[in-house]
Amino acid sequence: MDRFDIRGGTRLAGRLTVKGSKNAALPLLAAALLTDGPVVLRDVPDLADIRGMFKLLTELGCKVDYTPAESADAAGGVVRIQVTDPTISHARYEIVRTMRASICTLGPMLAKRGSARISLPGGCAIGERPVDLHLRGLSALGADITLDSGDITARTPKANGKAGRLRGARIFLGGPFGSTVLGTANVMCAAVLAEGTTVIECAACEPEIVDLADMLTKMGANIAGAGSPRVTIQGVARLNGVDHRVIPDRIEAGTYMCAALMTNGDITLDNCPADALMAHIDRLQHAGAKFTVDEQMDPMRTLCRVQGAGTRGIQPIEVTTQPHPGFPTDLQAQLLASLTLADGNSVITERIFTERFLHVAELTRMGASIFRQGPTVIVSGVRRLVGAPVMASDLRASACLVLAGLAAEGTTIVNRVYHLDRGYERMEDRLRSLGAQIERVNDKEEVGVAAAQGVG
Ligand code: EPZ
Repeated sequence: MDRFDIRGGTRLAGRLTVKGSKNAALPLLAAALLTDGPVVLRDVPDLADIRGMFKLLTELGCKVDYTPAESADAAGGVVRIQVTDPTISHARYEIVRTMRASICTLGPMLAKRGSARISLPGGCAIGERPVDLHLRGLSALGADITLDSGDITARTPKANGKAGRLRGARIFLGGPFGSTVLGTANVMCAAVLAEGTTVIECAACEPEIVDLADMLTKMGANIAGAGSPRVTIQGVARLNGVDHRVIPDRIEAGTYMCAALMTNGDITLDNCPADALMAHIDRLQHAGAKFTVDEQMDPMRTLCRVQGAGTRGIQPIEVTTQPHPGFPTDLQAQLLASLTLADGNSVITERIFTERFLHVAELTRMGASIFRQGPTVIVSGVRRLVGAPVMASDLRASACLVLAGLAAEGTTIVNRVYHLDRGYERMEDRLRSLGAQIERVNDKEEVGVAAAQGVG
């Protein structure tokens, strides 16, 4: 199992190209199931989750050819997907278990193949993560949904004894925590091939949904309002193949922005989706970071320079995670890491995944002072963090620990970096190119130590 050894204390400086977005690419890849034509996606990052989706699509009868980027500084590789066998429609537990985003295949498979069977994803390190809203949306479109042996089976209504089409409907997709991103993606993908008009109310407004709608529109779908809470879809009979470039990863960009603040560094991001990061940039500015954004460029692919707070130091702030355009839950841990070194008390409230605080105990081991009550933490800034062996069991919490290690005195060992590899391509190489002292070490003994401690 790999770990990172980090010697902290270096100010990071230099330039990086933001990779294509993992969370945009996953539903886009699944949407390839909606057409018989070839789907070509560009700027696809080389990540464990993306490779997992390739594997699933291959099982579901697709030919998948991926060419990784030639240069480490490119935004991503190119994938070509062609459905060759549309008769298979079972996403097995073995795959769903390792990659929750497998649920993205449910809507496309159901709409195009007339039925879909997919293992019900379990909870994960950041909480329970139900899919009731996905199912509610698909039922409203006329799908017959059953749950058997841990699998969801969905079927379109019968027409003349055969699988017919879904029917457009008015659907309210809000839940106790607001909208659902992958739920919106699933219902949108199902509705594009339904008969008639679908209105999704309380749709997720995330940029990844806008990217999906853009690609589906290029394929011949008729979608209005993507990026707003009300999306209207006129169903069409078929979709064409497409050639599409994935939007840059706002969470990767936001993580490197935190690295600049935390190390009092100076990082310039190319291909930066600043327009999708307004809440994050606002919070970082309040915490003292300085931003210079090229206003002449496409705001979703701009040049963005981020400088640390200088001699003034990091200022305490209040942050509440919310659905887009609010502050994203996927950057809560990274911002929290930065605020451990602020000059005063910060308050962070997590409103999307209220248990998403796996990083808190680990940061405390590095000398951070954090008090948690339910979904809120108070972070009392300390003068310094001290390196320690740490481990987290989810992607963004691991990124937070890497950031803490970069700013800490001494050596930090971040164990189990396979979580990071799910969402950050070559993070250690990229940080090293900015001056960080970070190495990937393959340490099989860590497994034994973790097992002896009962961690798992
Ligand atoms: C997506 O997950 C992202 N994953 C997550 O990124 C991200 O944290 C999340 O959106 C929120 O922004 C991908 O895009 C692959 P949700 P998703 O459905 O769509 C509740 C990362 O680190 N809910 O928008 O699964 C849910 O429990 C990951 O890259 C229901 O109650 O999240 C949560 O409280 C992790 N019922 C809230 O809604 C449902 O049926 C939002 O979840 C679905 C969700």
